[in-house]
Amino acid sequence: MKTLSPETHSAVQDKFMTARRELSEALIERDDEIDLALTALIAQEHLLLVGPPGCAKSLLLDSLMNWMHGRRFAILLTKFSTPEEVVGPVSITALKEDRYRRVTTSKLPEAELAFIDEVWKASSAILNTLLKILNERVFENDGETLRVPLRLCVAASNEWPSPETGKELTALLDRFLFRRTVRPIATLAGRRRLLWTRDHGPKLSTSITADEVDAAHKAAGALPWSDDAVEALETILRTLTKEGIQPGDRRQYKAVGATQAYAYLAGAERVSPEHLEVLASVLWDDPVEQPEKSAQVIARIANPTGMRVNQLLMEAEQILSATDVKNLGQATTATAKLGEIEKQLSAIERDPRASKARAYVRDQMRRIRLACIHEV
Ligand SMILES: Nc1ncnc2c1ncn2[C@@H]1O[C@H](COP(=O)(O)OP(=O)(O)O)[C@@H](O)[C@H]1O
Ligand SMILES: [Mg+2]
Repeated sequence: MKTLSPETHSAVQDKFMTARRELSEALIERDDEIDLALTALIAQEHLLLVGPPGCAKSLLLDSLMNWMHGRRFAILLTKFSTPEEVVGPVSITALKEDRYRRVTTSKLPEAELAFIDEVWKASSAILNTLLKILNERVFENDGETLRVPLRLCVAASNEWPSPETGKELTALLDRFLFRRTVRPIATLAGRRRLLWTRDHGPKLSTSITADEVDAAHKAAGALPWSDDAVEALETILRTLTKEGIQPGDRRQYKAVGATQAYAYLAGAERVSPEHLEVLASVLWDDPVEQPEKSAQVIARIANPTGMRVNQLLMEAEQILSATDVKNLGQATTATAKLGEIEKQLSAIERDPRASKARAYVRDQMRRIRLACIHEV
């Protein structure tokens, strides 16, 4: 790994922050997924996004792939996909000498960044190779064990694998440290943007190299932890165990690096409790039963303010979707209720999320008032 000067270091961090902003400006309601993708790249741990078709999984992951220079590999798996498509065809010249060697040029074993779409469609043969490459970062070719240059594999799917679909899939699921369910756009304002903006493709003004990603990884790993953050992480793990959520030791160990990577992305100089929120995508095993509970425990311990803001925003959305702005009575009640929420948000001082939420609620109140005037 090349050593970068201090100036280059902060330049790399700036690139991450710029990409974060530019992605977030283009993609609607995907801030958490964007943070996760960039955190995964910094942590050099694999990421899986699961959600219904058309919720911008590919748009985000493709954008991430295009952001990084270097050797990339992308594939959309089907149940007919063969190992050749993933790790390369068998060399004919080698076969003539009775050797079984794959030509891995431009395939997964030579990639620094990989995107596997519809990952659960993989056949057993592909799954086994994937497991080894993702987990041990090695590829066996003709009796030789080769280290792969893979920094990060991102994957997407429309569903979570269930235990009935077999052990191999559960094993592969565990190889992704970051895992998240992507949901359709939730707010009215978001839906408007979706409909009335024709191009959602992010325009990224920077790009990043594998060496720079390595530098970010190293810098993140060197970030110190505040005492509060140490205590919060230990409390989270204890509380999760009490709730019946006990991610394996490897996952717990890797949670430390994951949190540091997120703190680095946030531009922090040390890890503080709110950075632990990224662990909502890390600290659970069962994708159906546990993620929500785990997220609640983590938010309660790591970021009670953020949790309160989210609750208030959700209440605001409920009011908005239940209100017919053409009905004067309903509109008046809604603005009164929204005013109440706005007041509660304004009581949360010096929290950027709270002020953003407050501006949003105010905007919505203004919109309802305007619609009323229009009606009258
Ligand atoms: N949250 C969103 N932000 C911006 N565009 C979106 C969003 N959700 C869907 N789209 C639009 O829908 C298209 C389909 O998304 P895509 O990434 O192919 O979905 P997926 O891979 O989840 O099936 C995108 O290219 C974009 O135009
Ligand atoms: Mg897709």
